[in-house]
Amino acid sequence: MQTVKRLDMLRNAVAALRQGGETLALVPTMGALHEGHLTLVREAARQADRVAVSIFVNPTQFGPGEDLDAYPRQLEADAALLEAEGVDLLWAPPVEAMYPDGFATSITVEGVSAGFCGADRPGHFDGVATVVCKLFHQVRPDVALFGEKDWQQLAVIRRMARDLDLTRPHVDSIVGVPTVREADGLAMSSRNRYLSPEQREAAGTLPRAMKEAIARIEDGQDVGRTLAALEDELLGAGFERVDYADLADAASLAKLNTLGQTPARLLVAARIGGTRLIDNMPVE
Ligand code: PAF
Repeated sequence: MQTVKRLDMLRNAVAALRQGGETLALVPTMGALHEGHLTLVREAARQADRVAVSIFVNPTQFGPGEDLDAYPRQLEADAALLEAEGVDLLWAPPVEAMYPDGFATSITVEGVSAGFCGADRPGHFDGVATVVCKLFHQVRPDVALFGEKDWQQLAVIRRMARDLDLTRPHVDSIVGVPTVREADGLAMSSRNRYLSPEQREAAGTLPRAMKEAIARIEDGQDVGRTLAALEDELLGAGFERVDYADLADAASLAKLNTLGQTPARLLVAARIGGTRLIDNMPVE
């Protein structure tokens, strides 16, 4: 695996990987890799001849008072994991390479960015869309893979790729990979490591309570009352705040009061011990 930190070296490395006409997959990450990321890498290897992973803790997607400084950085350990997975290229730019002096451009994806995490974290999805667009232009992959755990992020990136007519990757080659979960169902996240043992145990209530709520909604019970009961259960289990717990159209993320003909998703963000956990699951 080649690790590159400069854009000119990245271009040469990508050209070398593609010289026999090979296809290239990109897995964008912020590092602190766990099994969820490695699942993306393995899927990437099934979808393309070569695999590139980026590790960049993107400052523009963190708001004031968020965990940018505390966000775990462990490039050597991450590189060893990627090497063991047979990754071809690690792109790990410094902040100055991504945001040169005077950087003044930002991408806003209206609509799909607005609610849920977009409402709780103003500017977050502008930062995500901008950095992902840059990564796409830098690496020019045939396919890019993202975890479904960040469902809204995936919707924002797909909308951006469609609206900006991106060709590498084309919107149809932006692949969502199902969430990887711990034994108790908690979605894997780099932020789970912030939890104390007690908070970690209580956090297991989140996927359990979501599954119960989905069973009730699919059974025809009232959506509003079911979501209120879900919030109560999380607060009773030790979460100090529920930012949102909503049923939404899976593609547009428009909130729903009843199940309709199009695929729906239950989306939740809740805080425990100051750590914000998000999850989402399909509702059929
Ligand atoms: O999901 C993430 O890790 C980040 O939001 C991403 C897509 C790498 C952009 O910084």
